[in-house]
Amino acid sequence: MAQPLYPVPEAWAEGALIDAEGYARRHAASLADPDGFWREEAGRIDWIKPFTQVRTTSFHEADFGIRWFEDGTLNLSANALDRHLATRGDQVAILWEPDDPANPERRITYRELHEQVCRFANLLKQRGVGRGDRVTIYLPMVPEAAVAMLACARIGAVHSIVFAGFSPDALAGRIEDCESRIVLTTDEGLRGGKKVPLKANVDEALTRCPAVDTVIVLAHTGAGVPMVEGRDIDWAAAVARQSAECAPEEMGAEDPLFILYTSGSTGKPKGVLHTTGGYSVWASMTHQYVFDYRPGQIYWCAADIGWVTGHSYVVYGPLMNGATTVMFEGVPNFPDPSRFWQVVDKFGVEIFYGAPTALRALMREGDEWVKKTSRKSLRLLGSVGEPINPEAWAWYYDVVGEGRCPIVDTWWQTETGGVMISPLPGATDLKPGSATLPMFGVKPMLLDNDGTVIEGPGEGCLVIADSWPGQMRTVWGDHERFFQTYFTTFKGYYFTGDGCRRDADGYHWITGRIDDVINVSGHRMGTAEIESALVAHPKVAEAAVVGMPHEIKGQGIYAFVTCNAEVEPDDALRKELIQWVRHEIGPIATPDLIQFAPGLPKTRSGKIMRRILRKIGENDTSNLGDTSTLADPSVVDHLLANRPQLA
Ligand code: WTA
Repeated sequence: MAQPLYPVPEAWAEGALIDAEGYARRHAASLADPDGFWREEAGRIDWIKPFTQVRTTSFHEADFGIRWFEDGTLNLSANALDRHLATRGDQVAILWEPDDPANPERRITYRELHEQVCRFANLLKQRGVGRGDRVTIYLPMVPEAAVAMLACARIGAVHSIVFAGFSPDALAGRIEDCESRIVLTTDEGLRGGKKVPLKANVDEALTRCPAVDTVIVLAHTGAGVPMVEGRDIDWAAAVARQSAECAPEEMGAEDPLFILYTSGSTGKPKGVLHTTGGYSVWASMTHQYVFDYRPGQIYWCAADIGWVTGHSYVVYGPLMNGATTVMFEGVPNFPDPSRFWQVVDKFGVEIFYGAPTALRALMREGDEWVKKTSRKSLRLLGSVGEPINPEAWAWYYDVVGEGRCPIVDTWWQTETGGVMISPLPGATDLKPGSATLPMFGVKPMLLDNDGTVIEGPGEGCLVIADSWPGQMRTVWGDHERFFQTYFTTFKGYYFTGDGCRRDADGYHWITGRIDDVINVSGHRMGTAEIESALVAHPKVAEAAVVGMPHEIKGQGIYAFVTCNAEVEPDDALRKELIQWVRHEIGPIATPDLIQFAPGLPKTRSGKIMRRILRKIGENDTSNLGDTSTLADPSVVDHLLANRPQLA
């Protein structure tokens, strides 16, 4: 089938940092001579002590290990702040747009940001936080979140950001796992006009975490929240007492930078660990090339700092590159569905990077909301987090970008630290729905289920053949789990968990997760996590969760639930379970459909046949495959006859 092709616009081909020929040449060079390539690219970082060793990496069990630039030293906050002071100290670094457009925006220059970071870093030190200590950040999208991240990086502390939409329980689990003694939060969060009781959530979480001795609370909405004597500290008052100077710590390239918990196919969320040197090179390089970024351009990544996109492309990548980065507290449809584009006009945003789920939601509201704004400042659009369907792509391109802005559809993961497969705007002809070609240093390969390499066009499991600087280094506290999760499915390769098709032009089309992870509105959810939340309810005997197609969210959450014998499941219980899961994990895990079933399809050995449930979830029940090994095939008929539909 011929795919429509959108060639690189002439204006882009000429002035771009990287053109088609440059891309091909440099990508080939990055694979042929990785040491030479990375020695040069790493020059973008101000090293305190230069590295001599580029990389020591192996995906094989015998000598497994991933280390980049390991004898070099640096400080990431100095690379994001101090190095800009002489040349762009008065340039706005963070342009903050509040939830409610009636409230004033905030413009924080590099000089001001530097000062705030130093003060906060000193406060952390005063509370006993030092190199290697973990700091849990449970903050909404306020500039202080970036201040906190950079302050940790400055003193060598390891931040662990917990998305402010997560429940007290989820927060407590993440605090416990990395054993942090300190939590940063606000009195309340504000999203779409609604208040979120963040401090109250922290208080609830901490009933389970006695080791936490410090909570720093930023007064954001001004709600008077109870403070625990000796433990809770008022952010502004404490910062005001600190010195505005704080020398950056000299960090080793492989010293931990941050932990970010993410969902996998089994068990509890994994603490993905990124280290300092490789991540800095990768976040800065990918941000510069993917967005063809020039210092000072107004750039907006609409992701939350609670996700990896917020780490790499709201804060670290842009600030290392001298950007003016927009930070948005609100949501796309508040006060109305024009909001994104109003903010674009207000600030003159040139580059906008967002998620398909938001685009689909806005697309449904009609073109008028977009068309009544100017958007003439926009030059480039980006997409991240999930596959972008061709309809949403076309709307983004034609309506939002008026046919003049290339779309960079960027495929990557929390584990990869930064973009892995993406067009470069001045180099890559676009095909709607394809993430196109690999970033420098990335060698994607397709394998079939038994590990045979698929050459040329075909479809299979997406693996990466060799290490890249931004790769995660371990699962916090469980190095064995790191190896088992990513390097044993296909020996010697990093397994992404995604399926992918490659076409005759060598373009990549991500087909979605092939493990038990679902992608709901661009948020990764482990089905196992939702299942264990459900079975924790006293009336539930067993639960299985699968993805289902969802017009806006991409995938919705479909839960099959078997109740305890004496329970009569009804609508009230359905509502109760939905509330239960929201409380256990957070609103992003809200089930879209719950089907009560007397039994789940199991093999004779008692294993749930998830393949069948997935098919039912997808409403693709014409061919359920081999059901002969089921202990009781009639269970499937019952499920099919009673499949609920989305309202
Ligand atoms: C999916 C988000 C298709 C994919 C940066 C991946 C995508 C998971 C794309 C990682 C894309 C991300 N096209 N699918 N452009 N980008 N994904 O860790 O399934 O939150 O494995 O990182 O999102 O999600 P994560």
